Amino acid sequence: MSSQPTPPTDLSNLWMPFTANRAFKRTPRLLAGAQGMYYTTPDGQSVLDGTAGLWCVNAGHGRKEIRDAITRQLAVLDYAPSFQLGHPIGFEAATRVASMMPAGLDRIFFTNSGSEAADSALKIALAYHRARGEAQRTRLIGRERGYHGVGFGGMSVGGIPGNRKTFSSNLLPSVDHLSHTHDLSHNAFSRGQPAWGAHMADELERLLQLHDPSTVAAVIVEPLAGSTGVLVPPQGYLERLREICTKNGVLLIFDEVITAFGRLGAATASERFGVTPDLITMAKAINNAAVPMGAVAVRREVHDAVVQAGAEGTIELAHGYTYSAHPLAAAATIATLDLYRQTRLFERARELEPVFEQAAHALREAPHVIDVRNLGLVAGIELAPRDGAPGARAAEVFARCFDAGVMVRYTGDTLAFSPPLIIEGEQITQLFGTVAKVLREVR
Ligand SMILES: Cc1ncc(COP(=O)(O)O)c(C=O)c1O
Repeated sequence: MSSQPTPPTDLSNLWMPFTANRAFKRTPRLLAGAQGMYYTTPDGQSVLDGTAGLWCVNAGHGRKEIRDAITRQLAVLDYAPSFQLGHPIGFEAATRVASMMPAGLDRIFFTNSGSEAADSALKIALAYHRARGEAQRTRLIGRERGYHGVGFGGMSVGGIPGNRKTFSSNLLPSVDHLSHTHDLSHNAFSRGQPAWGAHMADELERLLQLHDPSTVAAVIVEPLAGSTGVLVPPQGYLERLREICTKNGVLLIFDEVITAFGRLGAATASERFGVTPDLITMAKAINNAAVPMGAVAVRREVHDAVVQAGAEGTIELAHGYTYSAHPLAAAATIATLDLYRQTRLFERARELEPVFEQAAHALREAPHVIDVRNLGLVAGIELAPRDGAPGARAAEVFARCFDAGVMVRYTGDTLAFSPPLIIEGEQITQLFGTVAKVLREVR
């Protein structure tokens, strides 16, 4: 890093997202620079990135190839509208993204974030059914403990009580939820996909019968849920959801905002699990988080049904963003996807998976640990909550790890690990070794 920015003296103006603002501003932890596997704090301390930022910097920080592509694009075309006009790099980015999606999901709608991708996917599902003359299909089904961002659509199908309660009377109508599949009495300390739980997908049959299948537009799930504590799908579960959706004419949406682009050792979780949905949402690692970018990959027939339904010359889908296919985000995407391919990064993640799994499960006997779960380069370590203070133990572990030079994430009492896919063996040791040490220190 050439120079560190001066730490801010006034923290009051920035209302920080998903942050305990008062607590943070009393003891701020700032990140001022980043390169490769490490962040740097304003006072020059190195912090190992155990979370790829927020599950997004899969190729590691500060990649020159991506930076150069953005800089070149800035000199050529900084911005151009995508409504009724196009620019070459937006189309090229869509072609590249499509080439990494499962066969058939080759129509790409660009957004700027995962939340927007989730809301866009839900709207596309509704538009599809209307275009086919089934406008009564308006019901959406999500899952408890699901996270689909913070738009009203994503929040409504999402299943995180804390995110919903302030807004509960303004959520979308006609939404229902499957149960989540996490049950420690059956699947604690699973390595990879738990053997127990495929039958939980049968609940979808029950919900469809309850509401009448002909009223249901789509089911949305994360193939592997990250934000609520790394919930790995049971063996056979996603396959069963797929079967039930197909049988009932319901679209299946996989929210792959954290799983797409290598996290599970394949371009998508769909590829890893061998289950192909009708729409895939993505963001984050699509361009290594260098410029905000999200997308929805749509099965060609779904796209065609919507696009061919409108009269010639009319806008077929009244939806889009000022920054859809932003030239800088598109340039970053192309450079990132090239980098992933050239460095065989997804294969690398797959090869590292057993080492990562072993290191995570070595914490099984550490104090407070009640579960370890993993898949790809993702692991969750669940801690017993402190009496009367859920989340407090994990929050303390996070803070102590950070001060000891390792960044982990916590959600509730689960510690989540999702490092850049360039992580080396000794850094995996540093990551879990630091956590083990801290677990011995906290009460
Ligand atoms: C599965 C999933 N969907 C949607 C989102 C929201 O993405 P964003 O924060 O970019 O809006 C996230 C963010 O972590 C996510 O994990």
